[in-house]
Amino acid sequence: MAAAAQVSNASEVATSPKAAVAADGPSTADFVLRPVAPCDREACAEIAAVTYGGRDYLVTAIETWMADTAKNTALCLAHPETNRLAAIENLTRIDDGETGWVEGLRTHPDWRGRGLASRLHKELVAVAVAESEDPAKPLRRLRYTTRADNLVSLRLAEAAGMSVVDSWGFAFQPLDERLCDKLDSARSPGSGGPELLHELTMEEAVAHCEGPTGDRLSTSKFVTIDWKVLQTVGRARRVLQGLRDSHGTVFAGGDGAFSLGQKRPDATTTSWFVTVYAAEDADAALRHIAWHVARAAENGATAVVLFYNEALIRELGPEGRGVFVADVFSGAPKAVMVERELRATE
Ligand SMILES: CC(C)(COP(=O)(O)OP(=O)(O)OC[C@H]1O[C@@H](n2cnc3c(N)ncnc32)[C@H](O)[C@@H]1OP(=O)(O)O)[C@@H](O)C(=O)NCCC(=O)NCCS
Repeated sequence: MAAAAQVSNASEVATSPKAAVAADGPSTADFVLRPVAPCDREACAEIAAVTYGGRDYLVTAIETWMADTAKNTALCLAHPETNRLAAIENLTRIDDGETGWVEGLRTHPDWRGRGLASRLHKELVAVAVAESEDPAKPLRRLRYTTRADNLVSLRLAEAAGMSVVDSWGFAFQPLDERLCDKLDSARSPGSGGPELLHELTMEEAVAHCEGPTGDRLSTSKFVTIDWKVLQTVGRARRVLQGLRDSHGTVFAGGDGAFSLGQKRPDATTTSWFVTVYAAEDADAALRHIAWHVARAAENGATAVVLFYNEALIRELGPEGRGVFVADVFSGAPKAVMVERELRATE
């Protein structure tokens, strides 16, 4: 659902309960459930323009969803008279088809607060449940990530029988001098900067996830990048190689911690997405963030979207080393992953 969600202000999330909405127009049940089609591009562009400060990935994402229907089930609810898209959500299959990943839930601003997201989410979850009951299909679990303050998203997860299974620190930062200075000055004196790190070869990155450091930092189970979580158990090489081949992902290490980063251009911003695994070592985390800020700048990114392991949330936030720029978010918010097992793991 929230693979797209780079940044959202809580105010962008639906706040009006259904009961408060004017009773004009068709009812939720009248909207037609159908696959997303090329005629929906315009409505999606309208939604993206007002979502996540214009950094929404919807416009580019729907092209992938429509092109690869073997992997993606992109559904929408369309107005019964005009056929215009009012709400959209995609189910994609990852982890060799074992995970149904729910993403991109959006309701057009004209139609919010009427229960459309709720209905569409139920319909898409039902698709996944039916698929998991087919012994010929590998699907065994449903997952998505969202911000921990996205109450609608969490409400829909609960209604779909999903619960929070993991969480990370999350921050969005414009790339400017202020950020570099803050990172430098927040590190403990003598702890060493990004010069201690190097870009890992594929062999080193795989060895990290499969070896004892991966266990300590939890990358032996899965890695998170750009709002998606990928199972690494038993398949670290394929996962990391796949990331590098399809997204140019780079991996950094050399100090016991581990990080990965990749570029993603959106309609108005090019962001560098980073995930840092540093257990409780805030200095290592700051070193890795600084390393990626340099990669972001080299690659023409204008913002950094950062995930970091939960143990560091307090340490890096405003009450700790105060690394993150408070004018973007007042605190350091959390991202969470919700999950529902659909079929017992053999
Ligand atoms: C989030 C979004 C999809 C909601 O769309 P919507 O069609 O207005 O949502 P609905 O009317 O179906 O409401 C969804 C559920 O959240 C509940 N809800 C609404 N506002 C709420 C709030 N502030 N707190 C808690 N629950 C809330 C609704 O009551 C409903 O639950 P119910 O069916 O059990 O009653 C829409 O606001 C949007 O596109 N936002 C921007 C993108 C985004 O945040 N997407 C989701 C995460 S990626």
